[in-house]
Amino acid sequence: MKLSASILATQITGLSKTLPELDKDQIDYVHIDVMDGNFVPQISFGEAVTKEIGNFTSIPLDVHLMVKNPESEVPKYYSLKPEFITFHAETTNFGIRLVDEIHSNNIKAGVAINPGTSIESISNLLPYIDLLLIMTVDPGFYGQKFVKHGLEKIKKAKELLKGSNTLLEVDGGVNAENIVFLHKAGVNICVAGSSIFGNGMPNKNASVLKQLTK
Ligand code: DX5
Ligand code: ZN
Repeated sequence: MKLSASILATQITGLSKTLPELDKDQIDYVHIDVMDGNFVPQISFGEAVTKEIGNFTSIPLDVHLMVKNPESEVPKYYSLKPEFITFHAETTNFGIRLVDEIHSNNIKAGVAINPGTSIESISNLLPYIDLLLIMTVDPGFYGQKFVKHGLEKIKKAKELLKGSNTLLEVDGGVNAENIVFLHKAGVNICVAGSSIFGNGMPNKNASVLKQLTK
């Protein structure tokens, strides 16, 4: 299983120190939570800060856009060459076209769904995408509790993805208690914010999480 470290859970002014210290043997992606104050009430950062982040780490970027109007926001990230650009299914009626556009920029495309959005509602998008991101908290904050029906939904998603190469990513409330279940359920990438950055020892925390999935 791979780990994507959500820098939302770290002190943003300390990123120039924190990022270069991240161990790429433990942390596979740096997860960037872009929030526009519209799709979610909070504002985090946008493409300018994301570009800075990319200058301080060689770990591939995993951009999670919690924004309305992804058609106008997604293109701002093409030149930053992240590994993934993920937009929310709830924000567009033109998901297939957007995925095609991301692909034409040689970037992997992800679609995210909130806990209240069913997998079935996006089943027609699944054959087009590289990554399905299942939110296991309502987006907006780090440090929330994994939703009750999370595991059940992940199992359903895994069923629907049978035989495809689409990766399954889980975001929200991942910790040392639930990561074993997530691994067993076939999750490919876990996003972790507070359980990696919570106590100022991200590499050690990530290695403990990784070890639990071996
Ligand atoms: C929530 C974000 C998550 C969050 C994860 O809106 O998308 O990536 O930072 O943080 P934890 O792991 O603390 O729930
Ligand atoms: Zn996220």
